[in-house]
Amino acid sequence: MSTETILILGGSFAGMSAAHYALMHIIPQLPKKDGITYNVTVVNPSKDFYWRIAGPRVIASKELMPYNKLFYPIEPAFAYAKDKFTFVQGKATHVDSAGQTVSVESVSGEQKNIPYAALVIATGFSTPTPLFTQTTDRAALEATYDAFHTQLKHAKTVVIGGAGPVGVEAAGEISEFLNGKPGFMASAPKNPKAKVTVISAEKKMLPVLRESISKQAEKFLKRVGADVVYNTKVVSATKASEAEDAKTTVQLSDGKTIEADIYIDATGTRPNTNFLPKEWLDNRNRVSCNAKTLRVEAAGPRVYVVGDCGSYTRGGVMDQYDAIPVAMTNLRTDLVAHLSGQTPGPDRHYEANLKEQQLVPIGSSKGVGAANGMALPSVMVWGIKGRDYLIGMLVEGHMNGKTYEKEGKWKPQPVVAAGQLGTSRG
Ligand SMILES: Cc1cc2nc3c(=O)[nH]c(=O)nc-3n(C[C@H](O)[C@H](O)[C@H](O)COP(=O)(O)OP(=O)(O)OC[C@H]3O[C@@H](n4cnc5c(N)ncnc54)[C@H](O)[C@@H]3O)c2cc1C
Ligand SMILES: *[C@@H]1O[C@H](CO)[C@@H](O)[C@H](O)[C@H]1NC(C)=O
Repeated sequence: MSTETILILGGSFAGMSAAHYALMHIIPQLPKKDGITYNVTVVNPSKDFYWRIAGPRVIASKELMPYNKLFYPIEPAFAYAKDKFTFVQGKATHVDSAGQTVSVESVSGEQKNIPYAALVIATGFSTPTPLFTQTTDRAALEATYDAFHTQLKHAKTVVIGGAGPVGVEAAGEISEFLNGKPGFMASAPKNPKAKVTVISAEKKMLPVLRESISKQAEKFLKRVGADVVYNTKVVSATKASEAEDAKTTVQLSDGKTIEADIYIDATGTRPNTNFLPKEWLDNRNRVSCNAKTLRVEAAGPRVYVVGDCGSYTRGGVMDQYDAIPVAMTNLRTDLVAHLSGQTPGPDRHYEANLKEQQLVPIGSSKGVGAANGMALPSVMVWGIKGRDYLIGMLVEGHMNGKTYEKEGKWKPQPVVAAGQLGTSRG
């Protein structure tokens, strides 16, 4: 008896989706041979999937966003394929692409090597603030939130570094929580309890959206008592001591400093790729791949990348709906050819959707955004996302895999030798 494993590193948005796709559309189509069984193995540090999208609201209050809406157990989501699925709670620490094995350190600290027939890298990114990254388990992130809530209640000065969607959403939720909603026509709260400031490095917020939408976001932030400073960077943020309630001195590039009760660093993301060989990474430490096929060509045969750690994407969960079927179809093609000794079939290609598209709730009743290149009114942003941060609309299909029930239509593309297509968008 031997086992051929489709090994998936990371069990979040991209990793779980890849696993469902593999169980539904790949394993059933692999050649049936005596003595060979196939399986899908997912490695992830936490037993629970974390609905990161709702992070900006949960940091304001767990009454507004209870923890049990944020975390969902991973392994039971694959009960429909129990005999073909294995969950390993742990972290990949090394990939040996010559030997086609991955070293994994389990939560209990033991090392093991997992051989793979095909490998999917889906290890995503970490945020500079600990508020939006699940590094170990659910309990640890909940404890981080509990401690933050204790500080937030008494905060008079809050600074948020970075004016991307995460910074803007966090500012809206926190400011509304501390300062309340203004009256129906009011443009700002009467007696704001806290001064909340968003620091934008650029001359506008929300890089993906047009300037007029950024202006509208500023208006909605003002409405809940938050200000924006433009063309300014956070140079450093230094906590006075280790104490939880210690102030942070935020040094700005215009020479000013702010003494903040709370500082949230929302200035970017860091790919979780430091366990991989440097030669596999691009200049932003993302996994460099063929931008059409999503193969990691530097990594040898049958290695793919999906999700935000990949060089092919500008990021986000919506983009994964385009990318996962592509990477997984090509994985199936390659694996079938490998196992059967036949020449591989045609490739499936990924097309980046670069239309203006992003929804940004600002507090519990307003929001800005665009979909498919069209600006959306506040009430629609609220209706789609602001109500519950997409939990009602998307969690179930993500967890049970129904989102990927259909393979989707695709146009077969001729196979091009490795290296002949652009590998990344840099
Ligand atoms: C606050 C916030 C709000 C957001 N809101 C939206 C939104 O509204 N819409 C949207 O489209 N996008 C949103 N995003 C972006 C979205 O969260 C990302 O696109 C998404 O998390 C990427 O999914 P992923 O699976 O690629 O990576 P991640 O979600 O980062 O998951 C990576 C997984 O891999 C695990 N991992 C890390 N290292 C290893 C290792 N060595 N071995 C094994 N496992 C490992 C991690 O623990 C994690 O579980 C938001 C992001 C943040 C921070
Ligand atoms: C799947 O493969 C992995 C790695 O080879 C192995 O540890 C696990 O027991 C297998 N699981 C099943 C359900 O066969």
